[in-house]
Amino acid sequence: MGDASASYGCAKYLEMTLLGIAMLLVVVYQQTEAQSDCSTKLVEGVSNDMMTASSYYDNHSKPYRARLSAVPVPGGVHGAWSAGKNNQYQWIQADFNVTKKIVGVVTKGRDAISDSGTIQWVKTFKVLYSDDGQAWETVKGESGDAMVFNGNTDQNTEVTNNLPQPISARFLRIKPLTWHAYMSMRFDVIGCECSGMLVEGVSNDMMTASSYYDNHSKPYRARLSAVKIPGGLHGAWSAKKNNQQQWIQSDFGVAKKIFGVVTKGRNGISDSGTKQWVKTFNVLYSNDGLVWETVKDADDNDLVFIGNTDQDTPVTNMLPQPLNARFLRIKPLTWHRYMSIRFDVIGC
Ligand SMILES: *[C@@H]1O[C@H](CO)[C@@H](O)[C@H](O)[C@H]1NC(C)=O
Ligand SMILES: *[C@@H]1O[C@H](CO)[C@@H](O)[C@H](O)[C@H]1NC(C)=O
Ligand SMILES: *[C@@H]1O[C@H](CO)[C@@H](O)[C@H](O)[C@H]1NC(C)=O
Repeated sequence: MGDASASYGCAKYLEMTLLGIAMLLVVVYQQTEAQSDCSTKLVEGVSNDMMTASSYYDNHSKPYRARLSAVPVPGGVHGAWSAGKNNQYQWIQADFNVTKKIVGVVTKGRDAISDSGTIQWVKTFKVLYSDDGQAWETVKGESGDAMVFNGNTDQNTEVTNNLPQPISARFLRIKPLTWHAYMSMRFDVIGCECSGMLVEGVSNDMMTASSYYDNHSKPYRARLSAVKIPGGLHGAWSAKKNNQQQWIQSDFGVAKKIFGVVTKGRNGISDSGTKQWVKTFNVLYSNDGLVWETVKDADDNDLVFIGNTDQDTPVTNMLPQPLNARFLRIKPLTWHRYMSIRFDVIGC
């Protein structure tokens, strides 16, 4: 040392490196936030023709005028969708084209240039949802009855209603029940992609298995994030025995929409002779934990999923069809050295 400029350069380099690490951490944090944050306005992202309604008043008040951002154009389009008639058979809906996780709805009344005769909003409404646009479910409250949402009390204030539980759906429909002056409204739907990691969100006791090797390899060690703790917990769940009667499962508490599974082998074994992973497996699902269905292939045979080829690389398998289930089970068929696996389930 003794060379001041070299020392300065070194300090500067260190400073830049620390700055770089800090910036990287901010980016990682923001990405994590973005994934857990389910607050996108979904209707903003759909095209006009994906907004439809039971009817509309005229060409100036078509369903696409229901965007929250709609404002009236003098002599032209209106600042809301308006139904063709005021009765309880009217509705407006958006098609998101793919399944979304939906947590709430936002509504507004009709924005108008002149207040005479155009002060209109929806006071109460129901919310319906569908996967195919044919079969519809109504959002229900704790009592099990269709929930009546309190909508607007003026033309331009956004009112947000959270759903009692998040739902997964491709279509969301609003069915006005009562209105002020005329059935006119704007709306959006709050949600996000249906691509969460469901096992991440469950508690350890909701992960169970046919058996486990020892206290260091219990079912909850099957989290994708599990890593070996030296002298302690193992970096996977391991079955007690290597046979085809073994399984590991997660309970999600309520039925979820499920699109796929991600698997990894056992973390933390350096001896190449004893590394462990599951090579092939079946996927089963259930709504009560008692009656199980196996995911089938196109020929109606139990689908054999191709799993891992090393310890730590996540392998994603999408299901041939999304399914609705509260429990998902992985049943290993073949394995490398020992039946050890980590997994998660993609859905919402
Ligand atoms: C509404 O639009 C349709 C299709 O663009 C058109 O045929 C019809 O004449 C319009 N109606 C009125 C009242 O302008
Ligand atoms: C709708 O989804 C399909 C795939 O399922 C895609 O091919 C198509 O481009 C999507 N359309 C729109 C309007 O996003
Ligand atoms: C495993 O854990 C149970 C319950 O905590 C305990 O009773 C048992 O002694 C443990 N087994 C071993 C081998 O440490």
